[in-house]
Amino acid sequence: MTNLLHGQDILSTKQFSRDELDLILETAEQYNRKLESGEKLTPMDNQVLATLFFEPSTRTRLSFETAMHKLGGDVVTIADPKTSSAAKGESMADSIRTVEGYADLIVIRHPEVGSAEEAAEAASLPILNAGDGAGQHPTQALLDIYTVKHEEGKLEDLTVTLVGDLKNGRTVHSLVYLLAQYEGVKLNFVAPEQLSLPRDIVKELGEVGTDVSEYTRMGEPLKETDVVYMTRIQEERFEDRQEYEELKGVYVLDKEKIEAAKEGLTIMHPLPRVNEIPSDVDDYEGAAYFRQAANGVPIRMALLALVSGRVN
Ligand code: NCD
Repeated sequence: MTNLLHGQDILSTKQFSRDELDLILETAEQYNRKLESGEKLTPMDNQVLATLFFEPSTRTRLSFETAMHKLGGDVVTIADPKTSSAAKGESMADSIRTVEGYADLIVIRHPEVGSAEEAAEAASLPILNAGDGAGQHPTQALLDIYTVKHEEGKLEDLTVTLVGDLKNGRTVHSLVYLLAQYEGVKLNFVAPEQLSLPRDIVKELGEVGTDVSEYTRMGEPLKETDVVYMTRIQEERFEDRQEYEELKGVYVLDKEKIEAAKEGLTIMHPLPRVNEIPSDVDDYEGAAYFRQAANGVPIRMALLALVSGRVN
């Protein structure tokens, strides 16, 4: 397969063609097999990845760094923004142009929507968006579809129900554009009215002919759901603390709800969870969220190797 990703920035899931998605999923699968066989990999030998995190992260940063190490590359990191020169008022452009002097690839997470684009404009090397505020989180969405494919054996003809803070959840804003590329996918959105999916996204999904329904309760859609994608209410995006307090416990997927749902339900969550999924659900066989988190490694290996043009 030609490497369609070579030299690209990864900024938004809207950028991907179906051929590019196939390439990423196939490359991740190959790396997954190599990881399982214990093969030592070195395509990123002598390359340095910089991970710049101006917002909290556990899975995204660690799985990017693990991915780079597994490819034989090295990592430098800013995990605490208070220790970087951004805390002294340095501009994004200056920070990026500085880091370019040290690294071959940059992963960035930042609280402002559009920050990854801004970094990409300043940079001459590939930028991978690890979350820009309530905007996009494309690498998460790629590991999410990789997980759906593993759990369900396919990406076509599925009903996927996304639940929670659909207004502020960047993983949802990213994932829906990928799911919409597969035949016969039906999307159900469950959110309180104040936290519904932004209208421009609903409109765009309609324009590409995706079958979309919206609900404020999850009981009814779960009866026809193959994959439920739970999300936390994004506390840090609320201006009004009182509003957060009122909404935080609104959806809880407990054993009773799972019993009443369609048989064989796959449960996903980008994590961290707050109270959306009680821990006694973890031993249910369809509870895929920790497998989903682990899938961050092969997907991010694929992305790092593809954008660098160093797949093997
Ligand atoms: C998500 C994020 O940061 O957007 N976490 C992640 O990357 N796995 C989800 C969240 O914070 O709720």
